[in-house]
Amino acid sequence: MLMSQASTLQDLLRFHRKTPPCTAVIFGANGDLTRRKLMPALYRLAWEGRLAPGFAIIGLSRTPLSNEAFRQLMRDSVAKFLEDSPFDEDLWNSFAQGLFYMPGDVGDHSTFQRLADCLREVEQSRQTGGNTLFYLSTQPSQYAEIVEGIGAAGMAKEDGGWKRVIIEKPFGHDLTSAKELNARLQKVLDERQIYRIDHYLGKETVQNILAFRFGNGIFEPLWNRRYIEHVQITAAESIGVEGRGGYYQEAGALRDMIQNHLLQVVATIAMEPSATFSPDAVRDERAKLLRSIHVMKPEEVAANTVAGQYGPGRVGGGQVVGFREEKGVRPDSQTETYAAVRFMIENWRWANVPFYIRTGKYLPKRVTEVAIHYRSAPLAVFRNEFGDNSQAMPNLLILRIQPEEGISLKFVSKHPGAGMTLRPVSMDFNYGSAFGERSPSAYETLLLDAIIGDATLYTRQDMVEASWTAVQPILDYWSTQKFPFPNYPAGAWGPAAADEMLSRYGHAWRRP
Ligand code: BG6
Repeated sequence: MLMSQASTLQDLLRFHRKTPPCTAVIFGANGDLTRRKLMPALYRLAWEGRLAPGFAIIGLSRTPLSNEAFRQLMRDSVAKFLEDSPFDEDLWNSFAQGLFYMPGDVGDHSTFQRLADCLREVEQSRQTGGNTLFYLSTQPSQYAEIVEGIGAAGMAKEDGGWKRVIIEKPFGHDLTSAKELNARLQKVLDERQIYRIDHYLGKETVQNILAFRFGNGIFEPLWNRRYIEHVQITAAESIGVEGRGGYYQEAGALRDMIQNHLLQVVATIAMEPSATFSPDAVRDERAKLLRSIHVMKPEEVAANTVAGQYGPGRVGGGQVVGFREEKGVRPDSQTETYAAVRFMIENWRWANVPFYIRTGKYLPKRVTEVAIHYRSAPLAVFRNEFGDNSQAMPNLLILRIQPEEGISLKFVSKHPGAGMTLRPVSMDFNYGSAFGERSPSAYETLLLDAIIGDATLYTRQDMVEASWTAVQPILDYWSTQKFPFPNYPAGAWGPAAADEMLSRYGHAWRRP
């Protein structure tokens, strides 16, 4: 009885997105992510009336700042980075009343004791009932010690209110370090208290893949190896490393985008339907799919992957320097700024269907999309009229994740007039015009979910480890190679080797 009451209450919160009062503690409060993404997202949630009246934020970082100075800094950031919604001065003033700052070094134990005292005061003055959401937006090397500090100061204990911790990416640097990090976190926290964020899962268009697949009857029967020939996932960025040369040099495109964001997209495209929409039912299916990805043997890596690095070139009408000339990057860097991988999924639904994934910096345009290539019609009925062209125009389903969010189905149609000439045409759904509403940012969605306690769109330990397992052989093999970098000029669609890889398998990259 008690059990079912509790789950009804939880469902009520989840589906109506009503938030309980709480304090959000942000580590790395003076950093870029807090200013650009977190604070605007929290303000926007307040604007929508989604936060409980006593909602409070404690910002923590090393810089000495007063509450007032912190509020001013955050005000400026929110006004600057609030995309497509108005800045309301009155709302800001009341939001800022719940904003506090505490300078502190997370390497120093006394910081956590001071934080516990500060948290108690804020809990009392804002009546948050002890609910606390910790957000770790610091150097990844500090994640474990921060969580240990939280634990040692008694702040992880759920003896008055819930305690949850959001961990930013990157979650580990490879499989071994991801496991070590998990083990250290789990000494302090239960897995259900840990929210590993992957902002791609919070994107409306990625969530919509689930609605598209499982809310409609007509697509699912066509969603398998019988009908789908291959899948291409592209995440092209027209920007470079944007002052993050130091971080990026250690990460590279495979770790920065594929291990996390794009493998989560693969899981969303390829997972089996879950029996319910409960967080663990959905995550069980994602995890199962990630575990089904073929783990390459060392001798398979060269034929199924391509690494690229941009040299100087022209992007968006301007000249840019090559990666090796970026600040914080070694002049002989072997880090890839482009990666393409052919993944195979070993299960009944997807056997022998390649999933081609590519991502890169300084490509000609910003576009993230999934292109499902269907098999051609079994017989080229129109062959006599115009050769085998209909075979060369396969049906394509394009899920456009950004920037022009929508879905297109490409098929061939008869060109009007005498004769039987076929042309490719497109049936388009466009988010903007269909709903005429602003979509919440990924961070708004995910922060709201964490406050409610809905972990559906957060990654779980087994998912993170499965995706590291899938990329680890590539990392290992690449680390032994000396690539002829740079091998594509900024502003081009990556190295020629990426086209060659697909053509060896009888395919070609789409030009989005
Ligand atoms: C981040 C990566 O996780 O995702 C960045 O570290 C990348 O390098 C960014 O630019 C891409 O996110 P989005 O939402 O702009 O596609």
